[in-house]
Amino acid sequence: MVETKAAWKRIVARALAAHAAGKGMAEAGSGSLPGPDGVVLERPPKSELGDLGFPMFPYAKIMRAAPAQLASALAALIKGDPEAEGLGTASAEGPYLNVRLSRASLTATTLAAAASPSWGSVSGLAGKKVMVEFSSPNTNKPLHLGHLRNNVLGESLSRILSKAGAEVRKINHINDRGVHICKSMLAYQAYGEGRSPADEGLKGDHFVGKYYVLFNKLKEEDPSAEEKAQGMLLKWEQGDPEVRELWQKMKGWVLEGIKVTYARTGIAFDLYDFESDTYELGADAVREGLVKGVFYKEEDGSVWGNFEDIGLDRKVFLRKDGTSLYITQDIGTAIERHKAWPYDRLIYVVGNEQQYHFKVLFETLKRLGYDWAKDLHHLAYGMVNLPSGRMKTREGTVVDADDLVDEVAALAAKEIEDKGREDAVGDSGAVSERIALGALHYYLLQTSPIKDMLYDTAQSLSFTGDTGPYIQYMGARASSILRKHAAGEGNAVKGKASPDLLASDADWSVLKRVAELPEAVQAAADSMEPSVLAAYLHDLAADFSSWYRDNPVLNNPDPDLAASRLELVRAVKRSFEVASALVCVPFLETM
Ligand code: ARG
Repeated sequence: MVETKAAWKRIVARALAAHAAGKGMAEAGSGSLPGPDGVVLERPPKSELGDLGFPMFPYAKIMRAAPAQLASALAALIKGDPEAEGLGTASAEGPYLNVRLSRASLTATTLAAAASPSWGSVSGLAGKKVMVEFSSPNTNKPLHLGHLRNNVLGESLSRILSKAGAEVRKINHINDRGVHICKSMLAYQAYGEGRSPADEGLKGDHFVGKYYVLFNKLKEEDPSAEEKAQGMLLKWEQGDPEVRELWQKMKGWVLEGIKVTYARTGIAFDLYDFESDTYELGADAVREGLVKGVFYKEEDGSVWGNFEDIGLDRKVFLRKDGTSLYITQDIGTAIERHKAWPYDRLIYVVGNEQQYHFKVLFETLKRLGYDWAKDLHHLAYGMVNLPSGRMKTREGTVVDADDLVDEVAALAAKEIEDKGREDAVGDSGAVSERIALGALHYYLLQTSPIKDMLYDTAQSLSFTGDTGPYIQYMGARASSILRKHAAGEGNAVKGKASPDLLASDADWSVLKRVAELPEAVQAAADSMEPSVLAAYLHDLAADFSSWYRDNPVLNNPDPDLAASRLELVRAVKRSFEVASALVCVPFLETM
């Protein structure tokens, strides 16, 4: 469809120019007429009106003609355009020039394209290097529901960008140092008695998280606990062997546990950065900036930036003792990353409570003279809550990511059981896990990232409606048709497929939906919105659902039509597979 639309924009631009020349207008070759990219293309409100609609309003003034008049003139000109021949026909419909595409040719090219291994790939970002930083947890506790949103946003966006041709590098920036890390260590020293996660039958991240919570108890018993945590951080900075050893051990436990959650949910990284390696970066860049006048020094020796001119306030970059801060480190990290791998874009997937931080960061890098600072992007996302209001960080009622996936998977298993589908789905445990991920990921991606949202477990699992399982279900229906055919069932085995036979309005509307996948990928990449693909999947599922209810495929009396429709089912299935993978919704052959 991308090529077809591009071709029609060329045809319309050419007709506009020819019309101007015919009228002897100076505009004809002047460049004030739109080129192919400037031609406005819409989708007609009703499919009876055609497949593409070109409004004529934008050209009425420069062409000195009424839109309706212009539409008729262009329609006549296009009749003689050799490129239009075979692609479709144009006709005037009031102020619109509408195009009916030649069904057989688009059907043939779409079915062939959908069968290729690269179906859905586009080239809009070819040759571009894009770095995506996401997840970035702290090594003192397990992942929570907010991380699940972050993870799936980062992973899905990375997959979409690479499908759009970019070379993508996924980075996890682990926060493994600081006083909060020392708190879990102190509590472990106080109550852990040398036990390991295995001794307590816990995942490593849950084990350490338990001690982080126990720090509250320690504080009650020992009023100097906070001070001790600060003291431990100092020792850590001095490289005290005992502190470092415990730190390494506990960090290892957390990472081991968190990586199990990543693997379970299909999230992966190309690179792990650790704050313990990067926390001193950036101080040199700030000192250089001070010389250049980007920063100023207070009397106490601390170094500041002033952002009042862009509506922000003043911010400290180096403390009076010369040590750096969170933002200083981010300056250094961005510089180092660009040196190591000169990216065309760096996207930070981080909660919207850090919007101010990233504004200041990007502005500072710009002031320091890095022209790539314009290529930095903060993909900010909102809070996720549960209808029960369980997600309250301050009260310690954070929803644990593993527990939540367990809960959703158990509900999915119950659904399979209630429907009596255990035998049909095969490995019911594995299938419920995949349904749970489909439900969760689709739900989390469906909403635009910036908005806060409620995660409604039951609603996300509904097999009807705008959900992951509904999409998985329709994908499984397509698979089932293909499976039956492969087993020799139905009429298609006796027939010969031909794209010409898929000319009915019903077949055509499904075919057009399939053909739209590449442009949905491009649009999702351009807007950095995985929700575009979630919406595409929903439309595909809805179109396919009503089509296969009303239009017999395998038991069609005409074997050739059966065989032709089977090819359409194959293309639908491929589109489900490709688009589902891009939004981290597992594809299911049976459900
Ligand atoms: N670890 C931080 C947190 O939990 C997020 C890190 C964001 N990334 C960055 N480059 N600043 O809030």
